[in-house]
Amino acid sequence: MKLFIRLVRYLLPSKGKIVLVVVVSIMSSLLGVVSIYSVLPLLNAVFTAESTIDAPVHLEAKAPGEKRVEKKESSGLGAFQGIDTEKLKASVTENFEEIFHAETKERTLLNICLFLIASFAVKNLFVYLNGQIIFRIQTKTAKKLRDDVFSNIIEMHLDYFNKNRVGNLMNLVYNDVQAVNNTVSSTFVNFLQNPFSVFVYVTVLVVLSWKLTLFASLTSLMIFFVIRTIGKQVKGLATSFRNTMGDMNSVLQEKFSGIKVIKSSAFENVELERFQAFTRGFRNLDIRIARLRNIIGPLNETLLVAAIALVLWFGGLQVFEGRMTSSELILFAFTLYSTMGPIKMFGDVNTQMALGMISAERLFELLDTVPDIKNGTRAIKGFEHDIRFEDVCFKYAKDSDAPNVLDHVSFELNKGEMVALVGQSGSGKSTAVDLLLRFYDVDSGRITIDGIDIREYDFKQLRRMIGVVSQEVILFNDTIKANIAYGTHDEVGLERVIVAAKMANANQFIEEKPEQYDTLIGDRGVQLSGGQRQRLAIARAMVKNPELLIFDEATSALDNESEKVVQQAIDHALENRTALVVAHRLSTIRNADRIIVMDRGRAAESGNHEELLQINGLYKHLYEIQFSGKVVENGASLPVS
Ligand SMILES: Nc1ncnc2c1ncn2[C@@H]1O[C@H](COP(=O)(O)OP(=O)(O)OP(=O)(O)O)[C@@H](O)[C@H]1O
Ligand SMILES: [Mg+2]
Repeated sequence: MKLFIRLVRYLLPSKGKIVLVVVVSIMSSLLGVVSIYSVLPLLNAVFTAESTIDAPVHLEAKAPGEKRVEKKESSGLGAFQGIDTEKLKASVTENFEEIFHAETKERTLLNICLFLIASFAVKNLFVYLNGQIIFRIQTKTAKKLRDDVFSNIIEMHLDYFNKNRVGNLMNLVYNDVQAVNNTVSSTFVNFLQNPFSVFVYVTVLVVLSWKLTLFASLTSLMIFFVIRTIGKQVKGLATSFRNTMGDMNSVLQEKFSGIKVIKSSAFENVELERFQAFTRGFRNLDIRIARLRNIIGPLNETLLVAAIALVLWFGGLQVFEGRMTSSELILFAFTLYSTMGPIKMFGDVNTQMALGMISAERLFELLDTVPDIKNGTRAIKGFEHDIRFEDVCFKYAKDSDAPNVLDHVSFELNKGEMVALVGQSGSGKSTAVDLLLRFYDVDSGRITIDGIDIREYDFKQLRRMIGVVSQEVILFNDTIKANIAYGTHDEVGLERVIVAAKMANANQFIEEKPEQYDTLIGDRGVQLSGGQRQRLAIARAMVKNPELLIFDEATSALDNESEKVVQQAIDHALENRTALVVAHRLSTIRNADRIIVMDRGRAAESGNHEELLQINGLYKHLYEIQFSGKVVENGASLPVS
């Protein structure tokens, strides 16, 4: 119920339109009923009248009504509805007769038929209008929901993305919103449009014969339960279907972006087999759902016809007994048939709503998730003195008793200095960088900029003043210019992009491209070489002329030539800049003011190149390995410089 109220809140901006839907619904159902209700007895009168419809019709129309008044009064329920409705019926019929009255019977018949066409045309115009309005409300709601969901996801802390598969996130934005959307529209139709129709139709039914109505209701109730039982099963299966769909999204996403690995290991067949197993399961599930879904339609119709046949039988008996006229029975059957549609929808609404609610629950759960990283309020544009890690401890899995990924790490980086982090793979270098960017928060200790804990700063501003070249180069399917300019929020002209590209040693290769800075580089930059991608990433970091440059060197081995070019780009970028550099090639950081040697999460050694060599410890060990090209003990190999 709470969920439902929250959903309704999404509808509030459209309240004007909702009122319109209600009004139009009332109008169209009234119009529908009035036309059937008034025209059928008239037709009856036309066909039974002699040569003209003047006086005899009045008598014909009134006579059976008057007879029934007596009967209904004696039948209990008639006491409250008998007199008024009978009078109403008679006067409506009379009025209509006057309107349609013509010289000849044929002419009257034509008038009636024209009226029928006109009234149904107008009624259906209303139905069309309603459909349009409902669709507008529905799409507006869906758009807002989708925007909210996307905005929540994109603002989420990084760990959220580590724990949720991309396919499932895509599912949230696409399928779950769609399911809620469907529910909204079906709810609309069912709770705003149909109740009026049902109410009006049922009134007509009761007026015609309450006994027959009771009989028909019992039969309909039976249908309702049968369909509901099937609906429940469909719902269960549909949930698994949606989850499977999410898994497929994830799998496709992962496989297509990892296509190179698949191809280089010639694993296409293995992947195909896996996928086929997956689609097999998918198909089986689909078949089970279809089996149930397909049975609903035929079963529905059979039951419906059975119900109407029963009603005709029961009603026929009433006609024989003179409790109803035959035209009333036809009218009854016609109205009953019209009632069935909306009532059948009520039967489905349960399933529809349940499906939508599952999705709504997931969506609201996401919308309620507050990012773990709380933003600070202090403004920051740059810094004057230093950045310090003070006794920082951190691990990813908070509840496990695994050792800390960073274990009491302390070091400082003064303005204008270049500090390097080196150490074996997995020793926590990239993690330290992520902490400084506030992708995660420290478990204990603190990181300060100019003496103030970074948790106090607005993290978006903090990140804006830092240029990052991350270990994993991430480029978008856009032009070279757009990819470089992505580094800054300022509107950058081509000139600034070129300056950045020059600093990153990238200008030359870009100029050689046919469309230069407007060259599209493909998904993740697949149309560029590894070294070119790295240089674009450097240019992206340089374009905002950052206060602090963080450089997490890619481990991917480049050939000697590209390595030299990239190295030059790095050297160039580091000139006269405060920088924190994670280096695998020790040659990159030989000139660093301070080198911190990380070892299984601890800052084991610290000093400049010469000092560290003299200590004769880990750094010297790494250095010697690198220059002899051996493999480090834990199995990770460091590229030879
Ligand atoms: N998102 C994550 N969730 C859980 N554990 C992680 C995550 N990222 C890294 N780790 C673990 O934290 C440890 C430190 O990883 P980190 O990426 O900081 O190493 P690194 O020093 O940068 O290594 P490399 O030189 O290979 O880049 C590793 O044991 C790694 O498995
Ligand atoms: Mg790393």
